[in-house]
Amino acid sequence: MENPFSLSGKRILVTGASSGIGRQIAISCSQMGAQVVITGRDRERLKQTLEMLDKSALVGHQAVQAELTNAAERETLVAALDGKPLNGVVHSAGISRLSPVRMFTEQHLREVQAINVDAPMLLTQALLKRNLVAPEGSLVFVASIAAHIGVAGVGAYSGTKAALIAMMRCLAMEVVKRRIRANCLSPALVETPLLEATATMVGSMEQERNNYPLGFGKPDDVANAAIFLLSNASRWITGTTLVMDGGLTIS
Ligand SMILES: NC(=O)c1ccc[n+]([C@@H]2O[C@H](COP(=O)([O-])OP(=O)(O)OC[C@H]3O[C@@H](n4cnc5c(N)ncnc54)[C@H](OP(=O)(O)O)[C@@H]3O)[C@@H](O)[C@H]2O)c1
Repeated sequence: MENPFSLSGKRILVTGASSGIGRQIAISCSQMGAQVVITGRDRERLKQTLEMLDKSALVGHQAVQAELTNAAERETLVAALDGKPLNGVVHSAGISRLSPVRMFTEQHLREVQAINVDAPMLLTQALLKRNLVAPEGSLVFVASIAAHIGVAGVGAYSGTKAALIAMMRCLAMEVVKRRIRANCLSPALVETPLLEATATMVGSMEQERNNYPLGFGKPDDVANAAIFLLSNASRWITGTTLVMDGGLTIS
């Protein structure tokens, strides 16, 4: 019997693949049989991810360095696909900058918006314009629990993730005629370098950990959900957001 969760024969682009959640999604996709195109800014970390990919499916993986807030570099990434359509795209690249509304600057707002919302949407646009998303393809955007709840100091970031979810819903309606699907994942705290940076900023996350009946998430937890959304197992699911939070919001 065919495994509906398999990604065998699929070509998948993962942004933010040089670290954290994006890196694990790329690794897990390769383990599920996909050919993976990875992208990130840091050449060395991107190379490390490339080395970590499962090569047993005998398909060539590809790494493309790109600063995704830069239009020319997004074009370089699209050109590197060489006209071969993708069956899935995971937009994981993003940043978190903490500041109360009273304190943030216009530049702060623009920076978070540029990578968390504008870049994934403009990259998606570039791919769709060139027919580089195959029919029945799956677009997955990594949003955040921050889009669903109020946490002091997280306003700018929360706003970008809420915008991402809202845009994803409209996009899902636009691409459904080609049976392309679009969905978001909304994780709460996941143990990655981004969380370590936040912990350094606020002192410690140990008190916050007590609010999670199932503990903080691991990159694997998000990767497994991404695999589901990329695979044929989710062929009837579009326009949705999966909240994954270890019980944070029911506790
Ligand atoms: N960790 C959490 O607790 C958590 C919770 C909810 C949602 N998320 C979301 O999950 C996603 C991944 O987060 P993470 O925890 O894996 O963070 P991370 O470990 O800091 O990784 C962030 C990734 O985004 C890339 N990136 C950042 N800015 C970029 C830019 N301008 N152009 C291209 N690539 C860029 C980084 O590339 P370089 O390595 O090259 O800099 C890196 O690969 C983000 O969208 C984040 O908002 C995270």
